[in-house]
Amino acid sequence: MNTPATISYAGYPFDTRPEIERLIECYQRTGKAQEVSFRELVPWVKVGERATHYLHSYPAKLLPQIAHFFLAASNISEKGASVLDPFSGTGTVALEAILSGKSAFYADANPLARLITSVKTSVISLDSVREAYSRALQRYKKSRSSTPPDVINIAHWYEPQAIAQLCRLKAGIDTEIDGPVKDFLRVTFSSVVRKCSLADPRLSVPVRLKEYSGRRVKRKVSVLECFSEQFEANCKRMAEYISLERKYDAGNFVGSDARKLELSPGTPLPSGTIDLVITSPPYAGAQKYIRATSLSLGWLELVKSSQLRELEDQNIGREHIPKKIYESFIGTGIADADLVLESVYKENPLRAAIASTYLIEMKAALQEMHRVLRVGGRLILVIGNNIVCGKEFMSSEYLSAACQELGMSIELKLIDSIKSRGLMTKRNKTASLITREWVLVLRKDN
Ligand SMILES: C[S@@+](CC[C@H](N)C(=O)[O-])C[C@H]1O[C@@H](n2cnc3c(N)ncnc32)[C@H](O)[C@@H]1O
Repeated sequence: MNTPATISYAGYPFDTRPEIERLIECYQRTGKAQEVSFRELVPWVKVGERATHYLHSYPAKLLPQIAHFFLAASNISEKGASVLDPFSGTGTVALEAILSGKSAFYADANPLARLITSVKTSVISLDSVREAYSRALQRYKKSRSSTPPDVINIAHWYEPQAIAQLCRLKAGIDTEIDGPVKDFLRVTFSSVVRKCSLADPRLSVPVRLKEYSGRRVKRKVSVLECFSEQFEANCKRMAEYISLERKYDAGNFVGSDARKLELSPGTPLPSGTIDLVITSPPYAGAQKYIRATSLSLGWLELVKSSQLRELEDQNIGREHIPKKIYESFIGTGIADADLVLESVYKENPLRAAIASTYLIEMKAALQEMHRVLRVGGRLILVIGNNIVCGKEFMSSEYLSAACQELGMSIELKLIDSIKSRGLMTKRNKTASLITREWVLVLRKDN
């Protein structure tokens, strides 16, 4: 690797331009995707904690080093540039964009993800947060609140004692005035909600822990102890964020659907205004973001249990597809994909329909990214390929074909092995674990 040139940002000490130019030159000379390790490309970024990245867990988070590598390159975007992640999850790209001195724009279908991103990217006074925390604990002591919110199958996921304590803590937090300080407590409470449940902490989607004979499963039932630990850890994270630079603007929220980016309901994000898109879209049927976060969505009253299914239906990559939709084969208009999907359809029409619907909806999202990008702007897509019914499903190839059709050209392809995205689960017998991540750098030509 070339020695990186320095740049003057606390969290961004080096310009990665020379390394990106070297990789582009190798890719264009050989036509082959370049194998890299993003952790090694930016060794000055510590593995693990950095600013507010770990404020809250979330499935399939992006490795911050991937965003960092591209945001640190002066040939990809300049200081002050506008950076969008339309599938922002918990805001890894938004946070890194802000740390690199750029404006962050984010969208996500999951209201919990949006709340976490908003807290992670806001500079929140720790004095105010500590005062609010003390007030919430005072109210907890006096609270008689015992009616839980609408949390799906609550009695299955919690012991009665945990429900009682969570209700009192929630009441203590809810009385605070709406705003970033309260949201900081709500995000902290959300982590506690999962930790104090009977769900197996090793899995992203809630599955009840089993008690094996002779081994009692250790559960954290002291809600207050858990909240106080999480609160202290989150304050440390916020303190580090503030220490990296003090003049941040929080991320700009641009909607809940990557296919329809808007500044406010009915006001689209203007065309040609974004300099750089960095995003890791969902995979076809590989993660269940709504189910994985259903306990928090209920406790925070972000979604009623009866609305969870409706919310899931807005998710690209979902697995629930009505039978009438796949009574006949669904073509995607991407020739190579349709060849594979036609043969999958003969074996398993549902799996073919999940993959076809995914590609059709991803094409709509790519079209929207293309619309908001300025000419000459870059789209960086981080995506994995998987196996559907024993057949290789090359999402990275199909999505890059769709981008080329929209008027984008491929500048670079990279491959990294996934140690990055947390909690990938082997979903069913016909799908395989995604182990490598493809990173595509595309440029909007017209
Ligand atoms: C791979 S995750 C992104 C993780 C993120 N990069 C992070 O580091 O936390 C994909 C995200 O796409 C979101 N998503 C699914 N369908 C969507 C849609 N139609 N519009 C916007 N976001 C969507 C999911 O809620 C999920 O948060």
